[in-house]
Amino acid sequence: MSRVVVTGRVPDAALEKLRTKHEVDAWAGPESIGREELLRRVAGADAVVSLLTERIDSELLDAAGPQLKVVANVAVGYDNIDVPACTERGIVATNTPGVLTEATADIALGLILSATRRLGEGERLIRSGQDWKWGMFFLLGSSLQGKTLGVVGMGGIGQATARRAKAFGMEIVYQSRREIDPVLADELGARRVELDELLAVSDIVSLHCPYGPATHHLIGAEQLAAMKDTAYLINTARGPIVDEAALASALREGQIAGAGLDVFENEPSVHPGLLELENVVLVPHLGSATVETRTAMAMLAADNALAVLEGERPPAPIG
Ligand code: DGY
Repeated sequence: MSRVVVTGRVPDAALEKLRTKHEVDAWAGPESIGREELLRRVAGADAVVSLLTERIDSELLDAAGPQLKVVANVAVGYDNIDVPACTERGIVATNTPGVLTEATADIALGLILSATRRLGEGERLIRSGQDWKWGMFFLLGSSLQGKTLGVVGMGGIGQATARRAKAFGMEIVYQSRREIDPVLADELGARRVELDELLAVSDIVSLHCPYGPATHHLIGAEQLAAMKDTAYLINTARGPIVDEAALASALREGQIAGAGLDVFENEPSVHPGLLELENVVLVPHLGSATVETRTAMAMLAADNALAVLEGERPPAPIG
């Protein structure tokens, strides 16, 4: 029997699965586990099932000890894990791709609609108790039909977002390291372009690339200036892909029309400049937040950890 440390609350089904074979020490506090407590608990663990709020770095791996075999992240993004540090120590790192694709694409579409149709503004207006009535020019937004969606990072979530946008009558361009499957490209009418062209032609720019040194502030002042002044920026990937201060300034100055953000540069803080603006929709990292999706993520993380503990290849190794 191995010792599995789970760093935060996860659906019971995943804990039960782990408990059938192993001793499980799961943090159950309402708040995130503190760093000191985490370092203390991982000592002697054979597996760590981690949430994206916990930094899995050399310090933590050393605190765990040489018996640690697997770090199973309950997220598709793994910028919280120092993967090279895991590899150096022979520890397998895993993530949860696939199971949150549709839920995250749904949120991207939700943000696109909320930003272009000014749903946040409308909601705030009604709740404020101000007088309002239907008017020909009242809270006019922007239609999606015939407009261009630029997808930055055309992996599973980018593709799922593009499919939805296509159903709304949008044209698709994308920037990605690889061409997508030609059958899908045909079906979507999607054209692969460089980032510069994508920024220049898109009415909505939606970010779906992983975060790392290569994508830190991929969208900054220069890129925002290259977008149409009628365009919207949507981020459901990772906050630091966007320079939030530059975005607040571009939105304030009318350099772009609006934005929809599910993720933030310094979560849970949000740049104060964004909080003052009407033309940005802000939601608190809800991309995968459905009961079904979170359960599937936790179950996949449990399967990953169990496989490694059994000496097998996990379903979703990183890299
Ligand atoms: C992920 O899996 O990376 C998401 O951000 C979690 O919601």
